[in-house]
Amino acid sequence: MSSLSPNVLLLEQTNQLKGLFSIIRSKDTHRSDFVFYSDRIIRLLVEKGLEQLPVETHDVQTPLDVTYEGVKFLGKICGVSIVRAGESMEQGLRDCCRSVRIGKILIQRDEETALPKLFYEKLPEDISDRYVFLLDPMLATGGSAILATEVLISRGVKPERIFFLNLLAAPEGIVAYHDKFPNIKIITGGIDPKLDAKKRIEPGVGDFGDRYYSI
Ligand code: PRP
Ligand code: URA
Ligand code: MG
Repeated sequence: MSSLSPNVLLLEQTNQLKGLFSIIRSKDTHRSDFVFYSDRIIRLLVEKGLEQLPVETHDVQTPLDVTYEGVKFLGKICGVSIVRAGESMEQGLRDCCRSVRIGKILIQRDEETALPKLFYEKLPEDISDRYVFLLDPMLATGGSAILATEVLISRGVKPERIFFLNLLAAPEGIVAYHDKFPNIKIITGGIDPKLDAKKRIEPGVGDFGDRYYSI
């Protein structure tokens, strides 16, 4: 499925990652384990996202007075979470990027129609100068991520500076998102076969926000 587009970066499906997904997919997993093991996958997504950023050469002297020909990151970043479930990914980004700025976009999917509704946005003033990690663990129909990305673009963010970090996707969502934004990289931990009749990812993890925050 990731062969659909070079802009879909699927985490390597190692046994380690499958083990983490097996825990969070199980309906018998309680909230504290769901949070702990989701956070481990989120950390992998953040690291993969950071790998996409451009660097410039940067030499340093080691304590042996020898030059190490290194690199340093170029440019400024920020995170933007799609509230509520996307907020679960903020700490993983903070753990890797000290004092990173975070914006929020509150979008909720209508439970009957699965159509997204935008309620609120609060974004860094200088977001158009930044690389943006868009955070949402679930990509189902793609409606929420598309709406959030339209908000970012309306604020002047260049599509090629947006990286969408996503824990689990459905093929429908990937296709819908890339039809609109072919140049935006989706970095995902897994791609499930389909959506069910209620537009839930199948087999999926259920309602991610409920499992992470409230049940
Ligand atoms: C979930 C999820 C995504 C969206 C994905 O959010 O976090 O934002 O659905 O579905 P889509 O691709 O079909 O738009 P939901 O609106 O259920 O709210 P929550 O984050 O509060 O759980
Ligand atoms: N949102 C979720 O939390 N889970 C799904 O399967 C689809 C949307
Ligand atoms: Mg949501």
